[in-house]
Amino acid sequence: MGRSALVLIAGLADGLFGADQLEGNDMSAITEGREAVRTFVDHEHQELKTAVEWVHEVTEGMSRLPVDQRSESLRRVLHWVDVDLKPHMAWEESWLFPNIDDRAMPHWATGLVRFDHRQIAAQAERLRGHCTYGNPIPSSDISRLVVDLAGFEALMRAHIEREERFVLPLLEPEGDRWTPEWRD
Ligand SMILES: [Fe+2]
Ligand SMILES: [Fe+2]
Repeated sequence: MGRSALVLIAGLADGLFGADQLEGNDMSAITEGREAVRTFVDHEHQELKTAVEWVHEVTEGMSRLPVDQRSESLRRVLHWVDVDLKPHMAWEESWLFPNIDDRAMPHWATGLVRFDHRQIAAQAERLRGHCTYGNPIPSSDISRLVVDLAGFEALMRAHIEREERFVLPLLEPEGDRWTPEWRD
């Protein structure tokens, strides 16, 4: 996520949450702000889903790679974690979730996905442990690495779905938050 995009979204929606007393033009500005945030997060999540599919392919192909290419393949995944995934999670924790918390009670939804972030970060560090010191990844380590990559992928898939099912609906006006399947 680019910094300018973060500034743009923060500016569009700054102060737009929790302003339910407003009317007319103010309300339409709030709606536009919420929609802009929602569109932005949806776009980010589409990119995350594409990357998760790529991680899946990396996982499937890892055991067939020559020894000298395994570390490089894993490092590309970790580079994506550092450059794209972590900034996305940091933005959610520093801006999106606090804004949602300010207007939605209780805070269980953001609490759940914050916990997901801890698990994802821990699993990424577990992956980083496979390529410490730049050494080649030996065949004896491959099955453990593949399990850790698959675990990372599963955490990411579950997390994205949890955010989309339980957190992003909180950006909608109260009556439109939950699709019928989640109202009961
Ligand atoms: Fe997240
Ligand atoms: Fe997210």
